[in-house]
Amino acid sequence: MQVAIDGPASAGKSTVAKIVANKLNFIYIDTGAMYRACTLIAKENGIDYGDESKILTAIDQNPIELKSVDGAQKVFVADKDVSLAIRTPEITANVSQVSALPGVREKMVSLQRHMAGKTDVIMDGRDIGTTVLPNAEVKIFLVASAHSRAQRRLLDYAEKGIHEDLAKIEHDIEVRDYKDSHRKISPLKKAADAIELDTTNMTIEEVTAAIMAKILEKRAK
Ligand code: DC
Repeated sequence: MQVAIDGPASAGKSTVAKIVANKLNFIYIDTGAMYRACTLIAKENGIDYGDESKILTAIDQNPIELKSVDGAQKVFVADKDVSLAIRTPEITANVSQVSALPGVREKMVSLQRHMAGKTDVIMDGRDIGTTVLPNAEVKIFLVASAHSRAQRRLLDYAEKGIHEDLAKIEHDIEVRDYKDSHRKISPLKKAADAIELDTTNMTIEEVTAAIMAKILEKRAK
């Protein structure tokens, strides 16, 4: 079975997708992490974030992989663990630009489909239900107010020892939402057959339970 979870930044997609994947023994694929890895590759090679051909060459020279290490998903670039390095404010601020490059999207979508293969998979991102896995049996679109998403991101950053101002995080989230929803190729968009869940006033447990219920309902059919 294929499960697609899309939605704007910090709506809780990866947190719940990981829990559901563990409960059901599905493969979990964090596609945002892959675009973040592309952005890191550009940064580390001194490439302008808009220089598509140089970025594509650098991605070919530095393969991106998602691997499970002691039960946790880690992101590797050229065999180096970059799981923390892709979460810094600088990468977050520039990932929308890199992920809007058509060649980068083409490369990542093909890698994502290859990784999904024929196994049970839960994939989160912006264009999973619309583009990457259009035939996914369950499609969820998670939304939440920008303020509550900023509060979640503030906690995430604090856990990583990164200190940012709440108002700045909220502003940055709104800018990223705008860019991700207005790019030309496969923008952030709810698939026609996706179920929308507003998680503003829901706990992680409630969101997980709602998604699990949808999956089990489909499985029973
Ligand atoms: O989910 P995230 O915040 O880690 O994603 C980082 C960025 O990657 C996001 O701002 C837009 C881009 N992205 C995308 O364009 N398509 C996806 N399927 C996933 C993420």
